[in-house]
Amino acid sequence: MPASPDHSATGSPATEHAVEWERKPKGTQANLPDYEAAYRTFNWKDVESAFDWSRTGKVNMVHEAIDRHAASAKSAQVALHYTNYDGRDEQYTFADLKRLSSRFGQALKALGVRRGDRVGVFLPRTPELYIVILGVHRIGAIPVPLFEAFMEQAIQDRLSDSEAVVCVTSPPLKTRIPLGQLPALRHLVLVGASGPLAANEASYEALMAQGADWLEPEWLTVDDGLIIHYTSGSTGKSKGVLHRQYAMVGHYQTAKWALDLRDDDRFWCTADPGWVTGTSYGIYGPWTLGVTSIVIGGRFDPDRWFHTIQRYRVTMWYSAPTAYRMLMSAGDAIPKQYDLSSLRHICSVGEPLNPEALKWVKKVTGIAPHETWWMTETGMQIVCNYRSADFKIGCTGKPFPGTYATVVDDQGRELPPGELGHLVVKPGWPAMMKEIWRDPAKYDEYFRIPGWYVSGDSAYKDADGFIWYQGRQDDVIKTAGERVGPFEVESALVAHRAVAEAGVIGKPDPIRGHIIKAFVALRKGFQPSEALKQEIAEFVKTNLAAHAAPREIAFVEKVPKTRSGKIMRRVLRAWDQGLPVGDISTMEE
Ligand code: WTA
Repeated sequence: MPASPDHSATGSPATEHAVEWERKPKGTQANLPDYEAAYRTFNWKDVESAFDWSRTGKVNMVHEAIDRHAASAKSAQVALHYTNYDGRDEQYTFADLKRLSSRFGQALKALGVRRGDRVGVFLPRTPELYIVILGVHRIGAIPVPLFEAFMEQAIQDRLSDSEAVVCVTSPPLKTRIPLGQLPALRHLVLVGASGPLAANEASYEALMAQGADWLEPEWLTVDDGLIIHYTSGSTGKSKGVLHRQYAMVGHYQTAKWALDLRDDDRFWCTADPGWVTGTSYGIYGPWTLGVTSIVIGGRFDPDRWFHTIQRYRVTMWYSAPTAYRMLMSAGDAIPKQYDLSSLRHICSVGEPLNPEALKWVKKVTGIAPHETWWMTETGMQIVCNYRSADFKIGCTGKPFPGTYATVVDDQGRELPPGELGHLVVKPGWPAMMKEIWRDPAKYDEYFRIPGWYVSGDSAYKDADGFIWYQGRQDDVIKTAGERVGPFEVESALVAHRAVAEAGVIGKPDPIRGHIIKAFVALRKGFQPSEALKQEIAEFVKTNLAAHAAPREIAFVEKVPKTRSGKIMRRVLRAWDQGLPVGDISTMEE
């Protein structure tokens, strides 16, 4: 990994280290044959003609992603291959998804859901999850995907903030939905319910059995809402990032040029739609291009993963560094058992991919993963390495054509090569978030350096124009690719009867990037013990989410705070690493 001074201040020069190149063989065919040339001439306006709305003025994602293919020669092409390696093995053509999303759209209408309403989608990764999201789009409502792993507190925060009127879920998951705390929520739609239903519940299967095979989409404008993804910041509860329909222009073009998707690809995006990668590139990118997607349910398993590539003859694979590292740690013997020769391109997202993992993937598949840097808020890939272009191993890449990403100081001045600063993007790319749901002040924080969208990442640019990600500047934690806000975890911790105060940081970890570490001060009468650590971790697991539970807990007398009561996570990180704590003049007492 490049020297990763997380939380570094801006301005200090970054050390150039010995650089290795990933060179592309001459004649590599790619949708983007010449990055530099495209960067000079590309114009987003030219992409609009790829969409029917550019001629009709009638906008809806479901039309561009599904219906227009169902009305073309692609009608019988498989859009979605699904298996959970546990009894379900299915495929859905574009025509199937048109029919099923039409039926589900009618079901939502029958429940009184209208254009612009929010619909929670809290389901395991199954075909229904995709059908439901498409059905929500069809009636012009806004899906709010919720990770299957979320527990009651996380669900309550997100459904209450978005004021979802309906939540689609399953009987085992519905027990985590605190109906009494959610006045806006009128109905639950249950997938796979058996037995009697409560008055506010409806059966997905019963609703799908009614209605017609066709429901015309609600026609929207490009500025209407597309989806809300909740994501974490360093302060406060998670925030709802609202995207607009126009984002499809960005999804389409990045899927074409960065993922290099082609008509006959079999594309496997391993991300769950609870995360923006699982919608922007698990749904919108491939399907606006009319490309076949593969979706795997169930748990991560190295054997299954390589088997999936062989079984579906996957051509393009999009996954995350933690997954590549977990595959690497499972050893070389597994990939050797499978035919991986169908692969022609691989990309990576979510955290920096360390050169060791990159080289391992290349060793076993023949292909080096290409970085794609972006965020829930950017909606689409912004800084990438491209299939046709040589790149330096370990770098994050170059700005996508039509975007301008760079590194600036606190005043917004661009920094010379090698100097660490804020990784920023010039506003105006097509998939830029439309708002933070009902929180304009939070939205404005992203634009605190005039003229720039501020990512919260630190980076430097080198003399060849490559951007090198160097870490987060705030307290946001990336653990196994998931973005976790320390505040949410701290709030969950202090709800435990033994916990007086808690401070949470990300601790560097070779596989997961970071793990969550909590510093806990106990209430009077409680004694530190291993059993209590386990109990506290379990408590966070069952209230918030397994991936948000601390893997390490340290008991402390007091959690360091500023005089105004803010937790000094900088001090916690120093404690964790056994380093000097630096200036603590603002600390209480
Ligand atoms: C990190 C949605 C290094 C980064 C895609 C960013 C990355 C945060 C990369 C966004 C990458 C994402 N290299 N870091 N290729 N991609 N990140 O919204 O810190 O869950 O700000 O990602 O992930 O997290 P989010």
